[in-house]
Amino acid sequence: MAPMNDTAIAVSGLRKTFGEKVVLDGIDLDVPAGTIFSLLGPNGAGKTTTVNLLTTLMKADGGTARVAGHDLATEAKAIRAAIGVTGQFAAVDELLTGQENLQLMVDLNRRAAGGKRVVSDLLERFDLVESAKKPASTYSGGMRRKLDLAMTLVGDPRIIFLDEPTTGLDPRSRRTMWSIIRDLVADGVTIFLTTQYLEEADQLADRIAVLDQGQLVATGTPDELKRRMPGTHVRLRFTSVTELDAAAAIFRGATRDDEALALRVPSDGGTKSLRELLDRLDGHSLAAEEFSVHTPDLDDVFLALTGRDTEAVK
Ligand SMILES: Nc1ncnc2c1ncn2[C@@H]1O[C@H](COP(=O)(O)OP(=O)(O)OP(=O)(O)O)[C@@H](O)[C@H]1O
Ligand SMILES: [Mg+2]
Repeated sequence: MAPMNDTAIAVSGLRKTFGEKVVLDGIDLDVPAGTIFSLLGPNGAGKTTTVNLLTTLMKADGGTARVAGHDLATEAKAIRAAIGVTGQFAAVDELLTGQENLQLMVDLNRRAAGGKRVVSDLLERFDLVESAKKPASTYSGGMRRKLDLAMTLVGDPRIIFLDEPTTGLDPRSRRTMWSIIRDLVADGVTIFLTTQYLEEADQLADRIAVLDQGQLVATGTPDELKRRMPGTHVRLRFTSVTELDAAAAIFRGATRDDEALALRVPSDGGTKSLRELLDRLDGHSLAAEEFSVHTPDLDDVFLALTGRDTEAVK
């Protein structure tokens, strides 16, 4: 197992363009071995492109990177031997059964010795024993994702890239996936995870980087990112611009979201100040359609950093 202070992935000035379009405009990041790094960003931010570059599936236009101690530009083969990739779209062969898919990976990895054992262990670990002999085409999205990750683990990689591993999964399957990921890290594996779910990054990641329009607009631990945010606030949503205007005039220091007809009013969230806030609304004969108290979470981070409403990226 690699010592914890080793750097699993080190990236400097990574660039990628498609024609005129600059997708990655000089990205720097470091991932210590045995940790979970989460790359967060909306659709089209360049998450998959980053994964494709770092896993040698695509060539960068600039910058340097070391993955598992090997140079990305000159030692692609050594990198491929050290890593595992579970892509955004499952690499499962629909016509084969779960068991056959895994066996295929064992054969591709030339792990003849103990191959059967590896397959049965993985089926067990991912709770796929019952469906092992059914074609993958009959699997649910969650089962397919699990099989896909199981296939990635066949080669016993020390660094694993997971591109949106839980997109489209129900809450229970998402939690199963999270616990599998945590177990891997407990074994010393390094995880590079992309996600659109802020909650996921918050739950899993040691460090997070937010990618937006080709650049990392923020990096840090989940707590560090949350600390950069303004504190607790009350969100009031109205049914008309007139009401929003009226409310904005009452609560100075509030920020408005015209699109959502909402107002964010800074507050400590205590019952006393909440009552005062509601009384003031009453005093002006204003009623909010929706009233909610928010403690800062990564949604706020995202909103503040990218200037876009996270509803659009969820
Ligand atoms: N092979 C390609 N040729 C041309 N443009 C591409 C190619 N691959 C990606 N792009 C463009 O690069 C940008 C980033 O795409 P990428 O797939 O990396 O985004 P993403 O962050 O993974 O998004 P999503 O959350 O939707 O998966 C997009 O504008 C996309 O259209
Ligand atoms: Mg993607």
